[in-house]
Amino acid sequence: MRKIYRYSEKKFMGFSETKRLDILLEMLTALESGFSDTEFSAPLKESILNCLYYLKEDETLQDIRGKSYTLENFSEVIYLRDSLNRVRSKNLRDSDIYIKRYDVSPEQKSKFPVVVILDNLRSAFNVGSIIRSSECLGAEKVYLCGTTPGLNNKKMVDTAMGTTDFIELESCASTEEAIVRLQKEGYQVCAIELVSNAISLNDFTPLKKVAIVLGNESLGIDESIVELCDLSLVIPMHGWKNSLNVGTAGAIVLYDVVGKISCNSELRIDN
Ligand SMILES: C[S@@+](CC[C@H](N)C(=O)[O-])C[C@H]1O[C@@H](n2cnc3c(N)ncnc32)[C@H](O)[C@@H]1O
Repeated sequence: MRKIYRYSEKKFMGFSETKRLDILLEMLTALESGFSDTEFSAPLKESILNCLYYLKEDETLQDIRGKSYTLENFSEVIYLRDSLNRVRSKNLRDSDIYIKRYDVSPEQKSKFPVVVILDNLRSAFNVGSIIRSSECLGAEKVYLCGTTPGLNNKKMVDTAMGTTDFIELESCASTEEAIVRLQKEGYQVCAIELVSNAISLNDFTPLKKVAIVLGNESLGIDESIVELCDLSLVIPMHGWKNSLNVGTAGAIVLYDVVGKISCNSELRIDN
């Protein structure tokens, strides 16, 4: 059941300034998710426009009120919500700008025989971001090894933006355990690391099934783990800084490996 929002001028203006902004933000978030349901969205748009009108004397909203809104376009809803969020002095996090409108249904997903192993990652943000990239780019599964934050970490789940529901995740006591198991299952396990004997990602041709191992933000992949892998891959660096953020490195490698594998239709796993 959807909530109905209706405020008289007297009731709305009786709230504190902060509460008024929160109400508007809540209504805009509801409008975002129910935008295409006209029966729900039409009265909600009217309530939002009314509340904006009630705020005619509010100086903090001068810039926002200077524009005339109809809320007929989805982008207008998002811009208005982001502008109000700024006034409310909220720093926008990715999870605050969670847009579901263009997501496909799970049946339209494609999956490839590529898995990701996270070796004792520290940052919940990096883990969430890698899960999101893995899901978006068609990986099968992510192994959260050792001290890597898991599903009980809210920041990780928020950063993954809903993708934790659409990709298999497994927590493993150690990275070694995950690697040994995947090697037995026929995966070619690649350490993604800046080590001297690493092959350039550009020169890499994946075999049938690929597992990529990503390392801790400060320590990289543990040396004993690199040795256990079948080979090491490096993303060629051309700048001043010696390494990329681990989430960025993961996305680049996944994009490349999935791209190479997807050229071979026999390797694709369709749901
Ligand atoms: C920030 S790096 C680790 C820091 C690095 N050991 C150092 O000394 O600066 C974290 C992880 O990102 C991945 N990574 C970052 N840049 C990379 C690159 N150019 N090639 C391959 N992996 C990279 C690796 O998996 C690495 O373990």
